[in-house]
Amino acid sequence: MTHHIDLFTSRRNIIAHMVRNSSGSGIVILGTSPEVSRNRDSDFPYRHDSDFYYLTGFEEPQAYLVLQVNPNKVISHLFCRPKNVEREIWDGIRLGPEAAPRSLGFDFGYSIDEINHIMPELMKDFMHVYHRTSSSSQLDDEMRGWVGQLANKSRQGIQTPNEFHNIEKIIHEQRLFKDEVEISTMRKSAKIAAQGHLMAMQTCKPGLQEFHLEASLLYQFRKLGAQSVAYNSIVATGENACILHYRAGNSFLKDGDLCLIDAGCELDSYASDITRTFPVNGKFSKPQQQAYEIVLAAQESALSQCFSGKHFQEPHDAALRVLTQGLFELKILNPNQHGSVEDAIGSEAYKAYYMHRTSHWLGMDVHDVGYYREPNDPLLGWRILRPGMVLTIEPGLYFRPSPEVPEIFWNMGIRIEDDVVIGASNYEILSRDVPVKVSEIEYWMANGSIQI
Ligand code: GLY
Ligand code: MN
Ligand code: MN
Repeated sequence: MTHHIDLFTSRRNIIAHMVRNSSGSGIVILGTSPEVSRNRDSDFPYRHDSDFYYLTGFEEPQAYLVLQVNPNKVISHLFCRPKNVEREIWDGIRLGPEAAPRSLGFDFGYSIDEINHIMPELMKDFMHVYHRTSSSSQLDDEMRGWVGQLANKSRQGIQTPNEFHNIEKIIHEQRLFKDEVEISTMRKSAKIAAQGHLMAMQTCKPGLQEFHLEASLLYQFRKLGAQSVAYNSIVATGENACILHYRAGNSFLKDGDLCLIDAGCELDSYASDITRTFPVNGKFSKPQQQAYEIVLAAQESALSQCFSGKHFQEPHDAALRVLTQGLFELKILNPNQHGSVEDAIGSEAYKAYYMHRTSHWLGMDVHDVGYYREPNDPLLGWRILRPGMVLTIEPGLYFRPSPEVPEIFWNMGIRIEDDVVIGASNYEILSRDVPVKVSEIEYWMANGSIQI
């Protein structure tokens, strides 16, 4: 992607400011993700660490960011793979430590091969280290090694860090609030994902298999420039839709069944996350429509709570009321046994049919970082929604065969999921290029045409 050097520098400056506020000075040390072998001589596609990318814009493996935060200045360092003519022939061009300062706005660049003797030098005389405390044993070992080298020099008057802080808390709080560049990328990510859903709906017909629809999703994602899926696509037909983490498999799409697709792409490191449920034959049956419209009404009710100043639980509570009311209307819950809607919410009677939450943060990670409770509230109230936060709204209903459920609803799994940005006085749905209303879905499946 194009690097907005100033953007990444200003993010690092905000982190430095927070370090100063917390301990006056300190050193930030943050590595990216390791490469992961898939099987002999073949790796999983490489994906950088999101926190690391957020502060560097750097996508190569084997890299570390270091920030020396002093009271009046911050000095930034990047360790990365050295240039290597032979490896670059096999694996691709490396930026290299000489180019890193100019290309990415760092003060200094070094080869990763030098890290064990340079890092202790950078750490010396900093009392506070900010790093990933919940990280891998490899980083723990490295950190012990660097601190150990300094401890051995204590007789020379060198101070050894003695306070270790979790840098994730600071970065994640910052990542929760998306800036304009991030929102614009997420808007594009959702638009691409929507094209995948549109094509899958248009492709769908009885006799095909789930993976055929997955192919439509992947085709559009890549054709429109997304680098990857944001998570493994779910294409679940019939009873498979009641398995929440089902993957696209080889089940046949059957006339009369519903199909649920939960799929999103990753564009320039930002995820989209969209779910649609539609009839395989293009026309909702009456019971399918009845259940679907309850989920849609639940989503609308949840969306009506997506305003700055509401708290994170309010969309969920709103969805829950509509879904539970709907379960009474479908005669799946009954008043003699379950009492009122409020009683059924209190006793969690709905949970057999709606077992997940309505929202999660969305960003570089599909289940993005950020506290769900107010970080400074001693009573740990739910997080207040504020401009720049992005969350999903994804109510659903899932009916496995059971004596409590009228047979006409058996094996329906319905979820509708959209991606929402909280604004100052409004919200924006990023993912509505793909229809949600019954009539619009049926129209698209009958008449839609997407360019291939
Ligand atoms: N696709 C994962 C989720 O909806 O949370
Ligand atoms: Mn989701
Ligand atoms: Mn999803």
